[in-house]
Amino acid sequence: RDQLQTKTLGQKEIFYLENIDSTNNEAKKQANLGCHEGAIVLSEMQNGGRGRISRSWFSPAGKGIWLSVVLRPPFHPYDAPKCTLLAAVAVTKAIRSVTQVQCGIKWPNDILYEGKKIVGILTEMNAEMDAINYVVIGIGINVNISQEEFPLELRQIATSLSVAADKPIPRLPLLQEILSALEKEYHKVIQHGFVEMLDEWRELSVTLGQTVDIIGASEKSSGLAVDIDKDGALLVEIEGRIEKIIAGDVSIRPR
Ligand code: BTN
Repeated sequence: RDQLQTKTLGQKEIFYLENIDSTNNEAKKQANLGCHEGAIVLSEMQNGGRGRISRSWFSPAGKGIWLSVVLRPPFHPYDAPKCTLLAAVAVTKAIRSVTQVQCGIKWPNDILYEGKKIVGILTEMNAEMDAINYVVIGIGINVNISQEEFPLELRQIATSLSVAADKPIPRLPLLQEILSALEKEYHKVIQHGFVEMLDEWRELSVTLGQTVDIIGASEKSSGLAVDIDKDGALLVEIEGRIEKIIAGDVSIRPR
């Protein structure tokens, strides 16, 4: 805590565990029990780490940052997915500055290096009527995992910071920078609005300018990812028309 440069994140409550099913589950439990905004849950390993669309998340002991942050943002529940985008910006900036690994954001919630996934973000919300009770932002970072340690099905699609940087990466300085960056982006969005953050997102994106396949839509389609809009939707040009792709509905795959 003394080593954090944050005002709120990780200042009042840090739940540090050796092993847990999922830090997101624990964070939701603590949030339901009334923990403060900025509480963080960290675990050395997860035995039931979760990804989006009921996928599992490989979370070996001591080799990653398996982190969940509880926020109570003054947003409409409709705007909660924006937390994923702001977290992606914060984590990408932190990784670039601490490790020099030039990773980039794949819309909406992955951080890639040379096309392989290094970070996944899973945002979960609890809302009542038209107010958010809490948002849990779960961040999984593959830090010191060698390529051979990944399960076979992940070996071609995932990698880690130590592989990208070709040296072991100490986790503490990275965690400190991530929490600082996350706090900064969060306050920026609260003060100046989400649209102010989008230029940063555009700069860090590896999706814009790419031809992408849209997966999960009723009709299979592909097009050029041209921009992100004020709601965080991806704008894709398909046969001369601009289609708005909303996270959660579909996923995208580069051609
Ligand atoms: C995805 O890429 O589908 C999202 C992966 C999110 C993984 C992190 S690890 C910390 C937190 N706890 C979980 O169970 N999941 C998130």
